[in-house]
Amino acid sequence: MSKLWLVGDGMELRDAILGRRSVRKYKSDPVPKEVLEEIMDLAVWAPSGMNRQNWFFVVVAGDLRDRVVEICYQGYLSYIGRKVEKVFSHKPHVVRETRSFFATLGGAPVVIFAYAEPGPESIFTDVQNVSAVIQNILLLAHERGLGTCWMTGPLNMEEEFNKLLGVDGKKLVALITVGYSDEVPKVPPRRGKKVVYRGFPEDGES
Ligand SMILES: Cc1cc2nc3c(=O)[nH]c(=O)nc-3n(C[C@H](O)[C@H](O)[C@H](O)COP(=O)(O)O)c2cc1C
Repeated sequence: MSKLWLVGDGMELRDAILGRRSVRKYKSDPVPKEVLEEIMDLAVWAPSGMNRQNWFFVVVAGDLRDRVVEICYQGYLSYIGRKVEKVFSHKPHVVRETRSFFATLGGAPVVIFAYAEPGPESIFTDVQNVSAVIQNILLLAHERGLGTCWMTGPLNMEEEFNKLLGVDGKKLVALITVGYSDEVPKVPPRRGKKVVYRGFPEDGES
């Protein structure tokens, strides 16, 4: 972990933000556990409401990861598939690609489960705390040459995942697939004007 503390040791932040993409096709190369440990050690330096740091992560590889993929596909067939088919009825290729991704998780050798430990604050705060770490994971993984995909689609299978992983009393927030990318994903353009500024001197409102 110590070498990751060196300033200037990694990618420029803006390059990481701009270059990260959701990856849905992975090489079968395993991801070294030490790399994952470095990413997770840094990622948890995220802010959290009341500094509760109420996140919990399970990093899964090997045979257990194969079971995760099976459960994801069960989830697709029993629930999310119907939603996807409805929303994208005019785009059959999206339905095909989504089904295929849920059936294989793109061959990702690692899946990270992101949980919130419930507490006195609202679920909104809990989810934001975990999400801050998730975004760190995505950027740090990208810096290390890894692809990721943040997924909430399989959350309807929470009970099955918890049983498999031996997790109890926590809220599953997301799954993150991790591996070396085997595709060059399209860059989705930013949509419309989503930020406005008020009260700056240039606006004549000092
Ligand atoms: C909260 C959240 C949930 C997501 N869930 C899924 C998912 O279930 N399956 C999937 O393929 N992508 C999922 N994504 C990835 C988005 O589809 C992706 O971020 C978006 O299309 C923009 O592409 P980019 O990440 O390459 O910029 C999710 C992203 C977020 C932030």
